[in-house]
Amino acid sequence: MTGASGVTGVSGVVVTTSKSASDAVRAEARRVADTWGLPLVERGKASVATVRGDATTALVCTEEGWVAESARGRLAFHQGTAAKRLRALRHGQTDPLVRAGELTPGDHVLDATLGLGRDALVAAWAVGRDGAVIGIEADFVLALLATEGFAGPIPRAGSAPVEVRRGDSRQVLAAMAAAGEGVDVVLLDPMFGGPRASDTGFTLAREHTVPTPLDPEWVALARAVARRWVVVTAERARDWFPDAGLERLEGTRSGRWFRARPAPAAAA
Ligand SMILES: C[S@@+](CC[C@H](N)C(=O)[O-])C[C@H]1O[C@@H](n2cnc3c(N)ncnc32)[C@H](O)[C@@H]1O
Repeated sequence: MTGASGVTGVSGVVVTTSKSASDAVRAEARRVADTWGLPLVERGKASVATVRGDATTALVCTEEGWVAESARGRLAFHQGTAAKRLRALRHGQTDPLVRAGELTPGDHVLDATLGLGRDALVAAWAVGRDGAVIGIEADFVLALLATEGFAGPIPRAGSAPVEVRRGDSRQVLAAMAAAGEGVDVVLLDPMFGGPRASDTGFTLAREHTVPTPLDPEWVALARAVARRWVVVTAERARDWFPDAGLERLEGTRSGRWFRARPAPAAAA
């Protein structure tokens, strides 16, 4: 079966519910299983490990939202590090992503490495309800958690809608560039050294993150789509950054924020 996600049954992932689930939770589990083309396993009184069986990950529908559970840990969509950043913005302080992208209300942002969407939560609030955020995530489970999470109560009121797409953002950027489509800002925050230890469930997150290396081609694709800035995070500057148009954003504590202007239009 092909779900609305466009993905045909993903092996290694099952859907279940919390124990003694309410009718609403059971209906929600059924909806997500159907939408994403996943098997729904009755929980009854069994442990998640029993329900998971040979699958790697169980997506558990609870009264509080979705939780991904594997033998390695649990992972859920929550504000995480975005909570502090959003608080700072509300108190008139700045945020490196907002500053690097010069984000203003109404902007359109493409997050090419969505993960669990902390940067996207910040961007969505900064661009407001007249703006738009598209988030691309390569991993199935993260894309599902983010899709359901952004549709729930966690995004702050007044935030832009976040449209989550599962896929390889290099392909999405290439297709947009070929079609002449653009957004104001593209964000690239690829993995380096694993998910941040401050993230709950980061052991499981490590299993679920796709390690696409940051390279000049990915930056070039982003520069072909961005109208104002490509914002990149990296643990250090690379030799090729200047040739890719990347400069460090000064004045951040971590020093890991870089940005590049759009690629100059090709000569006719
Ligand atoms: C460091 S995390 C991003 C964290 C995110 N910025 C946040 O604030 O929560 C990088 C994410 O990019 C995803 N990823 C890696 N390569 C990708 C690709 N080619 N297309 C889309 N997503 C990709 C990984 O699976 C991972 O979830």
